[in-house]
Amino acid sequence: VCFFAVFSEDLRSSLYFVNASLQEVVFASTTGTLVPCPAAGIPPVTLRWYLATGEEIYDVPGIRHVHPNGTLQIFPFPPSSFNNLIHDNTYYCTAENPSGKIRSQDVHIKAVLREPYTVRVEDQKAMRGNVAVFKCIIPSSVEAYITVVSWEKDTVSLVSGRTT
Ligand SMILES: *[C@@H]1O[C@H](CO)[C@@H](O)[C@H](O)[C@H]1NC(C)=O
Ligand SMILES: *[C@@H]1O[C@H](CO)[C@@H](O)[C@H](O)[C@H]1NC(C)=O
Repeated sequence: VCFFAVFSEDLRSSLYFVNASLQEVVFASTTGTLVPCPAAGIPPVTLRWYLATGEEIYDVPGIRHVHPNGTLQIFPFPPSSFNNLIHDNTYYCTAENPSGKIRSQDVHIKAVLREPYTVRVEDQKAMRGNVAVFKCIIPSSVEAYITVVSWEKDTVSLVSGRTT
């Protein structure tokens, strides 16, 4: 946790960052996520969330909501409702009170789709004496999160620790 305080002349009022290390939130589509505003202050601040483009975000019922305490909630969703503007986008939050206004750094909020998946290998034909190349086929929706750790032939491990 990193505290960085901006004090006004009135020492009883301040604005500060609560968690400057919060730059990325990766969550499962089946659980959704709650992201507290990384900025805060005394006296109580008004917290607002924006897209990195500067657009203030709006509530989308059942999909995205900003709670009065400044926590941004993204609700669980089925893969068919994936919307990159909501589920894979860069946001920031501002905190404002009479002593001023601060803007958090950008926070990338990204959903990982949880779907059942299988990997497979296609049959390959090669001329006797030539090389046959086998590729592990992984659905693109989960490809970024999967590492091929081994190849097996009749349950005997052939290679370890190589990708694809
Ligand atoms: C700050 O953010 C990091 C990175 O997301 C997280 O692991 C940690 O729990 C956060 N700490 C607090 C106090 O919210
Ligand atoms: C903010 O409010 C929401 C909804 O009541 C709650 O789930 C969340 O834990 C609260 N977050 C903080 C930081 O108080």
